[in-house]
Amino acid sequence: MTQIAVIVGSTREGSFNRALAKLAIAALEQQGATVTDVDLATFDLPIYSAALETHAFPADALRLKSLFAAQDGLLFVSPEYNGSIPPLLKSAIDWASRPTGDESLVALTAYRGKASAVMSASISPFGGLRGLMQLRQILSTIQTLVIPEQVVIPNAHTAFADDGRLKDALPASLVDMTAARLVAVARALSA
Ligand SMILES: Cc1cc2nc3c(=O)[nH]c(=O)nc-3n(C[C@H](O)[C@H](O)[C@H](O)COP(=O)(O)O)c2cc1C
Repeated sequence: MTQIAVIVGSTREGSFNRALAKLAIAALEQQGATVTDVDLATFDLPIYSAALETHAFPADALRLKSLFAAQDGLLFVSPEYNGSIPPLLKSAIDWASRPTGDESLVALTAYRGKASAVMSASISPFGGLRGLMQLRQILSTIQTLVIPEQVVIPNAHTAFADDGRLKDALPASLVDMTAARLVAVARALSA
């Protein structure tokens, strides 16, 4: 069974990215994946600091790293903050990138060789596209294979129907396409 973790870059009540992640999780499960929904609010993670890493590596950083390491693929669903990704998400990615035990500096056991994908919902007309470009670069740097398909939901405050579905057919079909490709690539890479 293909294991996919979905990581949402917002913990805001009523988050549009959480709403998008819900649709993505259903689409991933439809493709036969086993999905772990990663709610970063349930991880006690300070902003990454090298001093903390040296003197008090947080137990939840290790927990997050182990969770990622057990996956075949990672889907990040995140808002854009000031043209980049939220510090909550960057810090989580950074913690899980750090070597632990006797691993080498570049072991990247949480990431190396896994498939990844990105999605964003934003209240702006650009849908968080600039943040996704940066997220792609980060995910490549940590040696995941980022699939070309992606989802941007502009004007997110008007994009969702009352039942949680996307009003427009095109972005809805992109959620399905992205989920299908992520599962296929994750499956192939882990074979
Ligand atoms: C600090 C901050 C910076 C933001 N910067 C951007 C931005 O650069 N581009 C954008 O499209 N939206 C930006 N937004 C608006 C977010 O897209 C909007 O708050 C969105 O609803 C957040 O996602 P969520 O609903 O999942 O919490 C920003 C919001 C915050 C709090």
